[in-house]
Amino acid sequence: MSKVTVVGAGNVGATVANVLAHKDILREIVLLDIKGDFAKGKALDTWQQASVDYYSTRLTGTDDYKDTANSDIVVITAGIPRKPGMSRDDLISTNAKIVSSVVSSILEHSADPIFIIISNPLDVMTYAAHTVSGLPTNKVFGMAGILDTARYRAFLATALSVSPKDIQAVLMGGHGDTMVPLPRYTTVAGIPVTELIEKSKLNAIVARTKSGGGELVKLMGTSAWYAPGAAAAQMVEAIIKDENRIFPCCARLSGQHGLKNLFLGVPVKLGKDGIREIIELKLNKSETKLLHKSADHVKAVMKVFDKMKMS
Ligand code: NAI
Ligand code: 2OP
Repeated sequence: MSKVTVVGAGNVGATVANVLAHKDILREIVLLDIKGDFAKGKALDTWQQASVDYYSTRLTGTDDYKDTANSDIVVITAGIPRKPGMSRDDLISTNAKIVSSVVSSILEHSADPIFIIISNPLDVMTYAAHTVSGLPTNKVFGMAGILDTARYRAFLATALSVSPKDIQAVLMGGHGDTMVPLPRYTTVAGIPVTELIEKSKLNAIVARTKSGGGELVKLMGTSAWYAPGAAAAQMVEAIIKDENRIFPCCARLSGQHGLKNLFLGVPVKLGKDGIREIIELKLNKSETKLLHKSADHVKAVMKVFDKMKMS
């Protein structure tokens, strides 16, 4: 049985811990936050839910990294979320410092955990965590693709009046407006989605997906947490159960699609050692062009991190 630490006990972190507790697949979840006793309260609340919802996973809340010792997986949600009018990239200077210090503090107490990064701007925060940690690339990756695909699937389910369970889809690229949903790789119970929906409607859904995070920021004044938390918990589950699930995750590319030395959303196989394999799709010319445009955007934000000279 395993130990998972979630750093940042705010909206997303507390949701990751809560969803994971309900899966009842871990010995312990440690929730850590710098905000005094905040994480203690969140962990206690979720532990008190255990006898109602029937799970045994212990929850510990803390502001002390000693309590994270020997974690198998660490999920980083620490940082600030965006407010209306902000892009994810506006968060870089604050969140890069936070994510870098969190990674260093974790590694003082856990030798080589798997890191799942959630803090934004996601692709560059994953790059930062990898750079600071010095861990192999299979052990440091980010959550965004499951969330963005989930939004795409939800919009399609509404438009087609079908269950989201039957929609399979892949989405690639950075976690931002340049992300690349892939209708050619989208099916509804095995039926190509292009046979079920008009092109103009599908294009509108692709566009809505790209700005799906911003839509929620406008509605709530801060960014989403239920779907992001559930998405990260699904990644943890795939690792703990060594499931070899295929998910779009933010992973370091080493030549796939003609791209290297950057972190970008691609389909990967997830098992107990983290990323087992990056699956390289046979993208057509226009899909490749969109992916490269997204990569260029991520590279520009990476430069901002590099200039901060944190590593
Ligand atoms: P939040 O403000 O509710 O929670 C963030 C928590 O981090 C706060 O409790 C804060 O005290 C804590 N924190 C700040 N600095 C810390 C440090 N040095 N050590 C430990 N804890 C620290 O924010 P929310 O909504 O949970 O979002 C967290 C991050 O996740 C944001 O950067 C947001 O943009 C990002 N996000 C990413 C998604 C993705 O798909 N990758 C989806 C949703 C949010
Ligand atoms: C989201 O997509 C803000 O990245 C966050 O909801």
